[in-house]
Amino acid sequence: MSAGDIEHRSGRFITLEGGEGVGKTTNVTFVCDWLTARGIEVVRTREPGGTPGAEAIRELLLDPTREEAWSDDAELLLVFAARAQHLAERIRPALDRGAWVVCDRFTDATFAYQGGGRGVDLERIRTLETLVQNGLQPDLTLLLDVPLSVAAQRVAGRGAQLDRFERERDTFFEAVRATYRSRAEADARFAIIDASPSLERVQCAIAQCLEQRVAAWL
Ligand code: TMP
Repeated sequence: MSAGDIEHRSGRFITLEGGEGVGKTTNVTFVCDWLTARGIEVVRTREPGGTPGAEAIRELLLDPTREEAWSDDAELLLVFAARAQHLAERIRPALDRGAWVVCDRFTDATFAYQGGGRGVDLERIRTLETLVQNGLQPDLTLLLDVPLSVAAQRVAGRGAQLDRFERERDTFFEAVRATYRSRAEADARFAIIDASPSLERVQCAIAQCLEQRVAAWL
């Protein structure tokens, strides 16, 4: 077993997941602040991205102006190439020194977007997950869940240029949401947070979840 494996680390790994427009970025800040207030060293990061090389891959993945579409396999491999770099350069070193990592998306997004959305065979994703993560999994994953109609309004309200994923059809996002929900319902690592009410109520639910799940690790 290598030094980066899960058994050797002391920090905790928390991920936030959900479709577009669920409020992940704001709530990642909330989780980081909650942990920092309890004296924990927090490394905030995101996927795809989190290191200069992985951020360069992110650009390749999200750029809506590229004329050549990625094949499903190329997209899948790019996502995992970014993840391999992120794990090696940022996530594992942080966990190994005892810091907690809070990551905006991780491999559940690959199952939801490439698996559910694009229809890539889940076995192919599991094979790459095993290869790249070597047993490392988040300790806790908050799935922020909202109906598509609410999410679409929030994305439109941002007024920013849509990236390559945000331009997908409703059927794509329905499959993304369904995949996230079925993964979350099957695995105690997840907490499903209803992210449709006001931000204040959503953060109240997140704080309650952190009290229940994280307090035991402190
Ligand atoms: P976001 O982090 O700003 O939401 O954008 C990242 C986009 O990348 C989002 O549309 C989901 C997509 N994505 C995948 O398709 N697969 C993945 O494994 C990850 C981490 C993200």
